[in-house]
Amino acid sequence: MLCHIAGTAIIKIMIEINNVSKRFGAKTILEDVSLIISDGEKISITGQTGCGKSTLLNIISGLDSPDSGTVKIDNEYISNLAQNQRAKIRADKIGFVFQSFYLQRHLTVLENVKIPSFVNKKCSEIEYDKRARLLLELVGLRDRVDSMPYILSGGEMQRVAIARALVNLPKYIFADEPTGNLDRNAAQAVINLLLELQSRFGCTLIIVTHDPAIAGQMSRHISMAEGRLTDEN
Ligand SMILES: Nc1ncnc2c1ncn2[C@@H]1O[C@H](COP(=O)(O)OP(=O)(O)OP(=O)(O)O)[C@@H](O)[C@H]1O
Ligand SMILES: [Mg+2]
Repeated sequence: MLCHIAGTAIIKIMIEINNVSKRFGAKTILEDVSLIISDGEKISITGQTGCGKSTLLNIISGLDSPDSGTVKIDNEYISNLAQNQRAKIRADKIGFVFQSFYLQRHLTVLENVKIPSFVNKKCSEIEYDKRARLLLELVGLRDRVDSMPYILSGGEMQRVAIARALVNLPKYIFADEPTGNLDRNAAQAVINLLLELQSRFGCTLIIVTHDPAIAGQMSRHISMAEGRLTDEN
């Protein structure tokens, strides 16, 4: 969908969330959340623990479905789809980075980066190998391809996880507190890397963070409180 802003510029709307609400048991977690995300945006989402940030990311990405309201990605209503159809769209379009890196202990760094290809093969083995090696070079881990992940530092593990998130060349990167387990220097290195890769591959980047210094490095900032969007700039 195209949208005119101030009568001149045209932006491409990629994600459209309309009046999304979600309850867990008796508790309302998200209440009437609406949000439009355009192509190539860099967005931070902040808010107190428990306010619904991860729940919102899970719903946008189709990991979970809303009780009411809709989510549209690339003009397709994913909130109406069955779980397996949502999983397919997620695997095609979204790369995830989490606070806990979720690397597989028994696989090498290179094999960890190729994990998305096990579930959603989008190109040949040879191409995956090339991509994974290139991404590991871009994240500064060329000399670690054959290492086991448990010998890496936290910052290095997160860089492997970022390479893994990008191996299927997703349009969207969702990062849920990607620096939560890192010290300030390693955290900044991870943010620099996400921004560099976002710009190189033209993805849309959405980061959930508790760190105002990191939120300030995105081009758009969304605050949440008690399941609602409270502020945007
Ligand atoms: N599957 C679930 N079942 C029941 N309650 C849930 C479930 N997932 C989340 N919640 C509850 O929903 C609320 C919001 O959780 P959510 O993980 O979205 O918060 P958050 O803003 O990401 O917090 P944090 O900053 O601590 O990660 C919390 O009270 C949580 O306990
Ligand atoms: Mg969370």
